[in-house]
Amino acid sequence: MTAELGVDAVVLVGGQGTRLRPLTLSAPKPMLPTAGTPFLSHLLSRIREAGITHVVMGTSYRAEVFQEYFGDGAAFGLEMEYVVEEEPLDTGGAIRNVYDKLRADDAVIFNGDILSGADLGELVRTHRDSNADVTLHLQRVEDPSRFGSVPTDADGRVLQFLEKTPNPPTDQINAGCYVFRRSVIESIPTGRRVSVERETFPSLLAAGAHVQAFVDDSYWLDVGKPEAFVLGSCDLVRGIAPTSALPGPVGEALVLEGASVAEDATVSGGSTIGAGASVGSGATVTGSVLFDGAFVGENSIVERSVLGAGARVGAGAVLRGVVLGDGASVGAGCELLDGARVWPKMELPDGSVRFSSDA
Ligand code: GTP
Repeated sequence: MTAELGVDAVVLVGGQGTRLRPLTLSAPKPMLPTAGTPFLSHLLSRIREAGITHVVMGTSYRAEVFQEYFGDGAAFGLEMEYVVEEEPLDTGGAIRNVYDKLRADDAVIFNGDILSGADLGELVRTHRDSNADVTLHLQRVEDPSRFGSVPTDADGRVLQFLEKTPNPPTDQINAGCYVFRRSVIESIPTGRRVSVERETFPSLLAAGAHVQAFVDDSYWLDVGKPEAFVLGSCDLVRGIAPTSALPGPVGEALVLEGASVAEDATVSGGSTIGAGASVGSGATVTGSVLFDGAFVGENSIVERSVLGAGARVGAGAVLRGVVLGDGASVGAGCELLDGARVWPKMELPDGSVRFSSDA
């Protein structure tokens, strides 16, 4: 058993997840089925493995569903508590709002939509050894121009928070995971929206606080957009992203109980086939996520796509990089390509939409 780290965990799960609509109309982003279980289960498994047991959830949008599923956390080896924001307080406001529940001197704050392989024990040790006020997990990425960047000095102290620019001076970005000294959390203003990235961190630097970096380059993915959500789920299934909450063996596909896959269908690339879902004869499902009860007809191709609960894809249809809301239906022979989103329960008739000619 891992030694206890002696910190609280705070998980921020109150966002609306607008970039993942329509999937987030029925479930908040951290509860979306990802590699066969709610996304949060994977994050919580990492928190537990690191030796953190007390977890406070900062909730707002669809607050009740978290407690319904995870309860007091005992079944997951955790002690979970929930704090609800009447009005969303943004990330910094959400951290301040859980202050009364904190017990330890330090709290590790997690954005609830990040998959990461960073060593949480090392993160906390860096924080303690450097005697920092706040320690940030910074991730090295190949293309930092897509993110704001965070330069540090030779001792690993954070110098600045820079907005997105075409030529950032460093490949280090804010990875959405921080250790806060409890007294610093108390200093965040109460009762209003506060962005931790745009307000709290810059004002801490301006006040001369010690903001330390923990730089890492292991697995990291923000699953906030559909293409990243699908990739994250597939990486979990294939064992590329770390988790101990996968409800099955690592492999090219995760087929949940009660799902049916025709003998001559191909399911690969880390796809998940949800409970009671079905994949018809000759169909190809690759790098995709089928929620419970989804249906893929004969000879269809489903690639890099998410099919919501009970969504249907007609025979011979082609979907690449597509999101279907719960109960949506795409008729036979349709072709939908990158970025298409079909709202829940909408029905596209057979042959009604193509992105190319049918010649
Ligand atoms: P988008 O609407 O698609 O940008 O997603 P989001 O609402 O989740 O926002 P974002 O990805 O920027 O949020 C980062 C993390 O902070 C996520 O885990 C959110 O759940 C969480 N978060 C964002 N805003 C709030 C808030 O007002 N309150 C709480 N408790 N959490 C929040």
